[in-house]
Amino acid sequence: MRKGPLPHGDRPNYGDEVFAFEHPSQSDRLQALAAVCDPATKAVLSPWELRPGARCLEIGAGAGTVALWLAARCPGSEVTATDTDIRFLAGLRHPAVRALQHDVRTEEFPPGTFDLIIARSVLCHLRERDAVLARMVSWLAPGGRIYIEDPSFFPAASSADPVVRRLGGAISATLAAALGSDVEGWARSFPAPLLGHGLIQVGVRVHCSTLTSKNAAGAAWRLSVADLLPVMDQQGTLSGAETSSALAHLERPEFIDVAHAMIAMWGVLPSDRERERRNAVDQTS
Ligand SMILES: C[S@@+](CC[C@H](N)C(=O)[O-])C[C@H]1O[C@@H](n2cnc3c(N)ncnc32)[C@H](O)[C@@H]1O
Repeated sequence: MRKGPLPHGDRPNYGDEVFAFEHPSQSDRLQALAAVCDPATKAVLSPWELRPGARCLEIGAGAGTVALWLAARCPGSEVTATDTDIRFLAGLRHPAVRALQHDVRTEEFPPGTFDLIIARSVLCHLRERDAVLARMVSWLAPGGRIYIEDPSFFPAASSADPVVRRLGGAISATLAAALGSDVEGWARSFPAPLLGHGLIQVGVRVHCSTLTSKNAAGAAWRLSVADLLPVMDQQGTLSGAETSSALAHLERPEFIDVAHAMIAMWGVLPSDRERERRNAVDQTS
C-alpha cells in the first residue's frame, strides 16, 4: 500500500508499504503498542521534574498517548509531537500539544531547543539511527534530558515455544529486510549510545510484557503480523500458510509466553559549567 513516489530515495521507509497509516488497523495497532508500553514508560518519566514552560519534543509520536500524558502531567509545558504522518496526532485535544509533520531523518530543529526529548519505537526503524540520535542530542538545551526506548526480540529467540521463536525471528528478519530496522541489537546496546554522546545521569531499564491471546501485547503482535503478512510472503520469510497457523497458535485461549523486550535509556546533557567541573575533577584524579 504505497502512498506514491517514495520520498527519500529508492528504499522504502516506515509507513510507505510496511505499517502504512492508510491500513485500516493502523490506529488499533498503534493504540495496542502504546497500551503495552505506556505504563513502563510513564514509570520512568514520572519522577522527572519539569519546570513550567519546559519545552518537550516527542519524535514519532504515533497515537500521541505519551505526548498527551506529558502535557496533562506538566501544566505550563509545551509539547511538540512529531510524526511523518500526523493524522492521529491532529485529533489530540490539548492546548499544550502541537502536532508537527516532521521527518526526523531530514528535518532540523535549532540546537539547544528542548528540555526533554522522547522517542519510543522510532530509532530502531531508521537506517540512519546513529546520525539521527546525534542530531537529537544537539537539539537538547544544557541540562535537558533525552529518553529513548526501543524493542529487542531476544526473549522470543530464547522462547521454549517453537512457534514464538519462528514468528519472532520472522518479524525481526522481515523488518530488517523491508525497512532496515534493527529490533535485536540496537536496543540491546543501550545505554552505550548515550554514554558515547557524553551524557550524564545515564540510566537503562528493560521491561517485558506477558504475551497472551487476550492482552494488549497479543493484540500488538497479531496486528503487526497481519500487516507484515504480504511482505513476509513476498520475501519468503514466512509463507501465508505458516503465518496463518502461527496467528491461530497465538489466538488460542490458553496461549501464554513472554513478549519482546522494551529497553529504555536516558541521560542528561551537561551544562557548560557541569562539563568544566567534571573536567577539573578528571584532571585532579
Ligand atoms: C512503532 S510506532 C511508535 C509510536 C509511538 N512512539 C509509541 O511508542 O506509541 C513508530 C512511529 O514512528 C513514526 N516514524 C517513522 N519514521 C519516522 C521519521 N523518519 N520521522 C518521524 N517519525 C517517524 C511512525 O510514523 C510511527 O508513528
